[in-house]
Amino acid sequence: MSKVFVFDHPLIQHKLSILRDKRTSVKEFRELISEIAMLMCYECTRDLPLEDVDVETPVATAHCKRIAGKKLAIVPILRAGLGLVDGMVNMIPNVKVGHIGLFRDPDTLKPVKYYFKMPPDITERDVIVVDPMLATGGSASAAITFLKEAGVQHVKLMCVIGAPEGVAKMQEDHPDVDIYVAALDEKLNDHGYIVPGLGDAGDRIFGTK
Ligand code: PRP
Ligand code: URA
Repeated sequence: MSKVFVFDHPLIQHKLSILRDKRTSVKEFRELISEIAMLMCYECTRDLPLEDVDVETPVATAHCKRIAGKKLAIVPILRAGLGLVDGMVNMIPNVKVGHIGLFRDPDTLKPVKYYFKMPPDITERDVIVVDPMLATGGSASAAITFLKEAGVQHVKLMCVIGAPEGVAKMQEDHPDVDIYVAALDEKLNDHGYIVPGLGDAGDRIFGTK
């Protein structure tokens, strides 16, 4: 069974409270979601392997640690996942970025794929799939199925807000994928929106509503 990590760090919780507020402007929403991504990235990468290196400081030799050449990729689910990319790339400047385009059919709530473009060596990389919202879990589960079909072996899922329904679907479909969220909310409403959530993440990032 996969693990679910809920980030209770005060900075994340504080920023998330402003993100949820319906009065928050598009500009502020973009800035905050990027900052939250940066902070969450810090925790999602906690298990990266390190190797020993000796560094000559101006005074003496320091026995240090560096990341042991782990190959990583982040994969935002378009559109709203794009809002998390800058924050992640700020933390991991050399990370490769693949893109999966999915939208939820508003009637069936099922994900529809319209784009899939990965770095050529994606099968050698550990992947962090990013999307602000894990609602029914249909989009995240489908995205991860497409990645596994492409040969990816190690995946984590990072979302800002998760619903219990989405977590349950992910654990059913992908028990090997750990889930990282800033908050686990109460439920979904009849339109598949997370309650209380933050509304439509894509619309709030891109100002399309
Ligand atoms: C949102 C969100 C997720 C999906 C979550 O995207 O960014 O991708 O819904 O819902 P699910 O867990 O029920 O699949 P949306 O389909 O609104 O597309 P957008 O990112 O283009 O706005
Ligand atoms: N997608 C969103 O953007 N918001 C939700 O609450 C659910 C799905």
